[in-house]
Amino acid sequence: MKSLIRLLTLSAFAAFMFTACEGPMGPAGKDGTNGTNGKDGLNGQDANSFCVKCHNTANWAAKTDQYHLSKHFYGTSSARNTKYCARCHTSDGFTEVVTQGKFVVSNDIPNGVRINCKTCHAHSAFDFAEDTMAQILTQTEPVALNYNNNTTTTDYGKINNLCATCHQIRGVTSVNWTDSLGAIKTFNQLPFFPFNKAGQDDKADVKYQVGQSFAVHDGNQTNLFTGTNAYEYAGQTYTRTWKHSANDCIDCHMNQYNATTKTGGHSLIVNKDACTACHGGDKITPVQALIDAKRIELAELLTTRKVFKKATSTAGVVSYTAVPSHDFYGTLFPTTETTTKFATALASNPTVSPTTGLVVPGNKVTMAVDKDFATRIGRPWKYGELGAAYNYAYITSELSLGVHNPVYALQLLQKSIDWLKSN
Ligand code: HEC
Ligand code: HEC
Ligand code: HEC
Ligand code: HEC
Ligand code: HEC
Ligand code: HEC
Repeated sequence: MKSLIRLLTLSAFAAFMFTACEGPMGPAGKDGTNGTNGKDGLNGQDANSFCVKCHNTANWAAKTDQYHLSKHFYGTSSARNTKYCARCHTSDGFTEVVTQGKFVVSNDIPNGVRINCKTCHAHSAFDFAEDTMAQILTQTEPVALNYNNNTTTTDYGKINNLCATCHQIRGVTSVNWTDSLGAIKTFNQLPFFPFNKAGQDDKADVKYQVGQSFAVHDGNQTNLFTGTNAYEYAGQTYTRTWKHSANDCIDCHMNQYNATTKTGGHSLIVNKDACTACHGGDKITPVQALIDAKRIELAELLTTRKVFKKATSTAGVVSYTAVPSHDFYGTLFPTTETTTKFATALASNPTVSPTTGLVVPGNKVTMAVDKDFATRIGRPWKYGELGAAYNYAYITSELSLGVHNPVYALQLLQKSIDWLKSN
């Protein structure tokens, strides 16, 4: 890039010199070559028409208009510029983790900008013979998953690696908490994912304590798409692939732009008209209806066991939340009313430092009498219950309602239901 700018400055300067001291005309020069030399690496085209295929005003305007329809463009708010959010919710944070091979950025980025053209785009090289599209992307390397700072990388395919860097299970969200006496301590309970281990016992006890969370966050599309990182029961087999497994994210999310429905292309919204060519009709709604029904069936079973509790808002929206079996310090909650105080809550009250402008995490433990005794389970959970609760969250947060892998999604939910019914 620098050398290109330098080259342009130099030739402008040289042109100025030549016109300024014009002399008598010299002898005719040799004929140039036929120009093919300049086409190396540009798929046999000259640089001018090759570059202009992308770099033309109409194309740039079209891409920009489409991109303005995307949630990437309008979605991100400043609340997500903090240390544990910025890597996926700001352009600056993404660039920092990608260029420095990190999981979290070094600090909050108060002025971080939204995801924009430059988040995803940079020229790695101009020898386009290899893979034109990958050459204009910032990140096409295999991805190290964030949820447990896993240093093993997975190659999802060049362009999928770009999406997967952000569209994956979130991971850590805070490192400190303040105890009831005001002392700041290291927080090692978040996140709390029940991934499968060798020799796993679904019937083993596990405490689900106040302050723990198995929330995967809204971005685990890559995980479901590849059928990974859910809770799988011992001795069960799961199918990880489905009809569209060989497709890339962009095959559906950047398909043909439709100006009428404003979908496809850089809007990143699926142009569903492009699906009907093969499908003839709507394949998405039936899948989503089936998965949604299974998801609710599972949540109801968990509610009956007092792993979850159910609430209905005044607007009629039903929600399920996990009910901790133990308090923050690991003491079992009783199922009847007592006057004993428990560490019942961990309030997150971050503040902004007036001197640095950075967010100071503040997770404070509350000691109180337990009012939720009627919805407590009164025993540790079983791993199989934790796994079922986690699978519910995994499918719910994923947002596609199973469309990204109907086969695996259905197996996850059905096998969770079956385990609960027989244990
Ligand atoms: C496949 C499409 C594509 C082709 C072909 C292509 N570019 Fe690009 N180029 C891009 C994209 C996308 C960007 C990033 C846009 C941005 O920086 O906002 C970019 C950025 C640039 C930039 C940096 C602009 C800036 O403001 O930082 C330069 C310079 C550039 N291209 C020159 C070229 C040249 C010279 C060629 C031909 C040898 C070329 N490009 C071919 C897509 C392409
Ligand atoms: C820098 C991180 C990052 C990258 C890279 C990224 N995304 Fe996203 N994506 C997000 C975030 C964050 C949101 C949610 C935006 C919000 O609400 O602030 C999102 C939202 C979306 C949505 C929802 C769009 C809508 O309008 O409802 C789709 C679809 C999507 N991304 C697809 C993709 C695809 C496909 C790729 C790869 C070509 C990709 N994303 C690359 C972070 C990223
Ligand atoms: C590993 C990447 C990643 C990290 C880290 C991450 N997010 Fe997200 N987040 C996403 C993606 C991807 C979506 C997009 C889901 C969609 O809308 O399609 C999202 C969606 C959201 C949404 C809902 C979408 C909306 O626009 O309302 C909220 C709220 C949110 N994130 C907050 C946070 C906060 C707060 C943090 C830090 C504690 C955080 N996220 C950290 C990837 C991430
Ligand atoms: C979320 C990541 C992402 C963002 C943000 C993004 N692009 Fe792209 N862009 C891609 C991907 C992926 C491709 C490759 C598409 C393909 O292979 O069909 C692409 C391809 C392109 C191309 C070459 C293909 C063509 O049809 O000309 C241009 C030019 C381009 N983008 C411009 C832009 C501009 C301008 C912006 C900002 C308004 C932008 N992009 C924002 C991911 C992104
Ligand atoms: C077979 C086509 C297909 C493929 C491949 C695909 N998606 Fe999707 N995706 C969909 C459909 C359909 C939806 C449902 C939303 C809708 O109805 O538009 C969806 C939903 C989403 C959403 C949630 C949008 C929202 O409502 O906020 C995100 C984010 C997303 N996809 C990202 C990805 C990523 C990342 C990949 C690659 C790992 C991917 N998708 C692969 C078809 C696809
Ligand atoms: C090249 C042909 C083709 C295109 C284009 C195509 N699909 Fe498919 N899709 C199939 C085939 C074949 C199946 C498996 C047989 C079936 O269920 O009809 C399938 C199955 C599916 C399923 C699972 C259906 C079920 O009942 O389990 C979903 C979801 C899906 N496709 C979504 C999409 C979306 C979204 C698009 C558009 C972005 C799309 N497909 C475009 C060929 C295609």
